[in-house]
Amino acid sequence: MLPPLFLPLPTAVDRSYSIYFQQLTDLPNLMQAHGLKNPQLGIVTDKHVEKIYRRKVEAALIAKGYQPRWIVFPAGETTKSLNHLSAIYDHFLGYADRRTPLIALGGGVIGDLTGFAAASILRGVPFIQVPTTLMAQVDSSIGGKTGINHTVGKNLIGAFHQPSFVLCDVDTVQSLPVREWHSGLAEVVKHALITDETLFDTLVLEWDAVLNRTPEVIAPLIRRSVEIKAEIVSKDETEQGIRAYLNFGHTFAHALEQVTAYKTFLHGEAVTIGMIAALYVSKYQNPEFPFEKALDLVKALPISAAIKDLDLQSLTEAMKVDKKAQAGNIRLVLLSNIGTAYITQDIDPKAIQAAWMFALSSF
Ligand code: NAD
Ligand code: GLY
Repeated sequence: MLPPLFLPLPTAVDRSYSIYFQQLTDLPNLMQAHGLKNPQLGIVTDKHVEKIYRRKVEAALIAKGYQPRWIVFPAGETTKSLNHLSAIYDHFLGYADRRTPLIALGGGVIGDLTGFAAASILRGVPFIQVPTTLMAQVDSSIGGKTGINHTVGKNLIGAFHQPSFVLCDVDTVQSLPVREWHSGLAEVVKHALITDETLFDTLVLEWDAVLNRTPEVIAPLIRRSVEIKAEIVSKDETEQGIRAYLNFGHTFAHALEQVTAYKTFLHGEAVTIGMIAALYVSKYQNPEFPFEKALDLVKALPISAAIKDLDLQSLTEAMKVDKKAQAGNIRLVLLSNIGTAYITQDIDPKAIQAAWMFALSSF
């Protein structure tokens, strides 16, 4: 078993928490160890995850005296909506008090939605993240960003609400559709590029086994990727500084997702293309940057979406209205080396145009 990680939040020690790398069936033991002994609990999931994991999790909870009440939504991004948030309120407020935990079992959609519900019900009930996609394990379940989408844009309604703990069962990624696996891998590669050249070199060396999800290879890589995210969040919980490094490739990616109405790309696929563009600008600004080495790994991330009919002008305009842009100025995370990121607004617009052309012609 992989050892747990601890995410310290120096400004709020009582909200610091652990990330356990154990089996789903360990959930009740961990809840008891965390003093969450209230037999009633709400557990939110989606239909795909319910089909594969409900029976196992339910049996483990009932065996330890818990009475899980399931809230099951359709799978997909549209579940991160006000309607489904409201459905959690309607269900959970029927039996909850301030000690009743709300558990998210699923990917980032379920985690973000459930986390926001937990933040807002009774001004905060205990929340447990049980991420079952790679994206959720290495990214969305860590760091307390929760929320839902609005017709105006993605993730526009939300709150920071840290979980009581995270249970990351790395075996669950074996049942993921392959496209979802590749999408999550984009964030693992991103973590390596922004902070850890050793992780980058290991990914290069083990790439075939990584793509094939060889359990003994991917388990420590998932843990290291979680550790990187936890270290960043621990230093900058509310994104005043270095947490923005996690947006490497994302300003381009959000533009791609927006101009394609979130229908063409999985998030990680858009991030892959965005990282190629960001690598191009990194090289433009820093001639010494090892562009080819970085590019080889990013291009090894498979993309299933068709890249066509994308208008450069619309993409550049969309970058200016990204919620991370400031006063219409494009702000980018770039790399000076593999493992070393920085943020800049001092970017030649010609570099951005050229980066889009390069990235879109790479596939
Ligand atoms: P998702 O939750 O939609 O899951 C992807 C698909 O995989 C779904 O169809 C789901 O039913 C299925 N699935 C989940 N686990 C499975 C398993 N073990 N086996 C088989 N199928 C499984 O998508 P995601 O990529 O996990 O998350 C994307 C969401 O996360 C977006 O809404 C994004 O905004 C959000 N996000 C949030 C943060 C954050 O910091 N809060 C960070 C990154 C992404
Ligand atoms: N996914 C970016 C962040 O958590 O800050």
